[in-house]
Amino acid sequence: MTSTSDSKRVLLTGAAGFIGSHIHRALTAAGHEVVAIDALLPAAHGADAVLPPGVRRVDVRDPDALEEQLRGIDVVCHQAAVVGAGVDAQDAPAYASHNDLGTAVLLAAMDRTGCRRLVLASSMVVYGEGRYRGTRCGPAVPGARRRTDLESGVFDHRSPESGEVLTWEPVPEDAPLRPRSLYAASKVAQEHYAAAWVAATGSTVTALRYHNVYGDGMPRDTPYSGVAAIFRSALEAGRAPAVFEDGLQARDFVHVTDIAAANLAAVERELDGFTALNIASGQPITIGEVAAVLSRAGGGPEPVVTGQYRPGDVRHIVASPELARNTLGFAARISPEAGLAAFANAPLRVTAGVGAPSWR
Ligand code: UD1
Repeated sequence: MTSTSDSKRVLLTGAAGFIGSHIHRALTAAGHEVVAIDALLPAAHGADAVLPPGVRRVDVRDPDALEEQLRGIDVVCHQAAVVGAGVDAQDAPAYASHNDLGTAVLLAAMDRTGCRRLVLASSMVVYGEGRYRGTRCGPAVPGARRRTDLESGVFDHRSPESGEVLTWEPVPEDAPLRPRSLYAASKVAQEHYAAAWVAATGSTVTALRYHNVYGDGMPRDTPYSGVAAIFRSALEAGRAPAVFEDGLQARDFVHVTDIAAANLAAVERELDGFTALNIASGQPITIGEVAAVLSRAGGGPEPVVTGQYRPGDVRHIVASPELARNTLGFAARISPEAGLAAFANAPLRVTAGVGAPSWR
């Protein structure tokens, strides 16, 4: 490790996870000293998982173990969380326990040990539906889509007044927070605990709102996986990716190495107070295009647009990446087309999670 005078001592939580392991490598390669911890939850890592080299088994909900790891730490990079959208109401205690309580225990322990800087993994799911506009009605904030519309294949939001189809606009960080899933509720809660901690202690927090993350080491599909892993796993099994709705729903797919670079930038550059930033490629893509790129690059069957829908899904969510560029100097380097084409043949994480997350 090449240590520089600006080298930081960083506590990285969730270091054995998909995103955490990429951040671990990026921080170490940049010369930072990393104390890497992970609870190695069986729901995410499988029952027989072993800790990766250099990672200690610590659950962030354990205040004593955490306090010990926090000695001499300059910055905490908090990635540990139960992810996915939540399959059913029975998952609520797991999100509340690992995400909400875990963050609260961490912040209290940081206060006791005098650590004043947090980089927090947040998510674009805090916004709920993105931002929309109609040519006649102007800016619009649509509610959840109506089931009768979805049943009849009307997937776009329409203006309640004029009935015109609304088109998406990039979401800025000051957009209202409207969580629509258990996971989203826990990400909003983490941000709120962190912002209150900033106000109470004069510390600083940079909350990175990741958009759709994909890349090497992404876990194979589970009911808690994002769509890129689901499409990849289908193609690997020789099946066509099943594209829901009409395939025109837009997202921002950001490569995991760019996510790691954003975390490195946030660790290295302290921002004032509580700052939330979209971390995105800045190049929106439709879900139909994602499936097509993966099928083409992987030499698999053509995607099938099924017209199915999931009631909790948002239609479009596309970010403005400008604030991250202006404050952290962060810009994604990997375009969705190039990154997804490479992802078509990239290794996925083999250890499958077992069952729903437990909260105890
Ligand atoms: C996803 C994550 C969310 C995370 C966010 C940002 C899940 C379930 N959602 O949100 O937790 O914070 O990215 O990284 O992990 N689709 C198909 N076919 C399928 C599955 C899904 O077409 O087999 C479609 C969905 O209808 C949706 C789109 O793909 O329109 C994206 O789905 P998904 O990746 O699950 O959720 P996001 O809302 O993008």
